[in-house]
Amino acid sequence: MKSVKEAEVSGKSVVVRPDFDVPIKDGKIVDDTRINGSVPTLRYLLAKGAKLFLVSKMGRPKFKDPSLSLRLVVEDVSKALGVKVSFKEDLNKDIPGNVTLLENLRFWPEEEAGDLEFSKKIASFGDIYVNECFSTSHRSDASIVGVPKYLPSYAGFDLIREVSELKKVLEDPKRPLISIIGGDKLETKIPPINNLAEVSDKVLVGGELMFKLGDQDLPENVVVASDDIDGKDIGPKSVDSFTKIIQSANTIVWNGPMGVFEVDKYMVGTKKLAEAIVETSAHKVIGGGDTIAALEKLKLLDKIDYVSSGGGAMLEFLSGKKLPGLVALDYYDD
Ligand code: 3PG
Repeated sequence: MKSVKEAEVSGKSVVVRPDFDVPIKDGKIVDDTRINGSVPTLRYLLAKGAKLFLVSKMGRPKFKDPSLSLRLVVEDVSKALGVKVSFKEDLNKDIPGNVTLLENLRFWPEEEAGDLEFSKKIASFGDIYVNECFSTSHRSDASIVGVPKYLPSYAGFDLIREVSELKKVLEDPKRPLISIIGGDKLETKIPPINNLAEVSDKVLVGGELMFKLGDQDLPENVVVASDDIDGKDIGPKSVDSFTKIIQSANTIVWNGPMGVFEVDKYMVGTKKLAEAIVETSAHKVIGGGDTIAALEKLKLLDKIDYVSSGGGAMLEFLSGKKLPGLVALDYYDD
């Protein structure tokens, strides 16, 4: 996998896939961590004299939903880069500025379908491609997997940092390694449970997932929460048994809150586990937007050793699965 530092970018137009998938409330950005993660790479490219064509996604739009328009991040990105960012809603050939941000890629169904004609169109806006979005690199979206087929491709600084930090946990974790999975996005998380069970000493499952597993045949070292509060949080018995297991850990990986943590009444499970986790001397790795938000709400985020921007991507990487976005950058040897 080549770093963006190895690219000759002066005078070139670079298609960058940054992570602008930030939470929005009432038309305002609630947390700009992901935007900030992409800024060093974007600033570096600008300082080297490149033009930028930025392509990203926000949420999971079912239609051209204005509440998920990337127009909402233009001002913030402009400020963070210290340059004007022009916005583009269509794929016709005119490029309005030195730094252009395209509308939410997922407004085009071809993006999630991984359509190669669409990838080619996106690629036609640049000479070079940079992936700076670890959190979507477990998807085969056109901007992640297709565009690198048409352009010389490089990894951004944040993506490189994510991969090298998580690689340490994947290859040489201090044991016992305890993985904790909760939250939603069920279809993303059910497959990694089995894979994670292979590399972890124990996998603890809570959140919405605990109800969806049904009578699936799970590996022996997977412990699913046994009681709940109104179906919206794990119950006290599970908190106790999970806490005991957490106390034995030397490495902890956590993605997905244990309940609807946004509502105080249902954040007890998440809070108790978070407190138990930060009290251990284990190496603590967490990832995913909701888990980060929960720990921020609890003011415990600074007690975590490594915070990944990826939720599903982190879980898949740590379970040893090859991420399509990293395959496209030739990260893996075989
Ligand atoms: C994320 O926000 O977790 C990633 O961008 C992946 O999003 P997706 O699950 O909608 O593909």
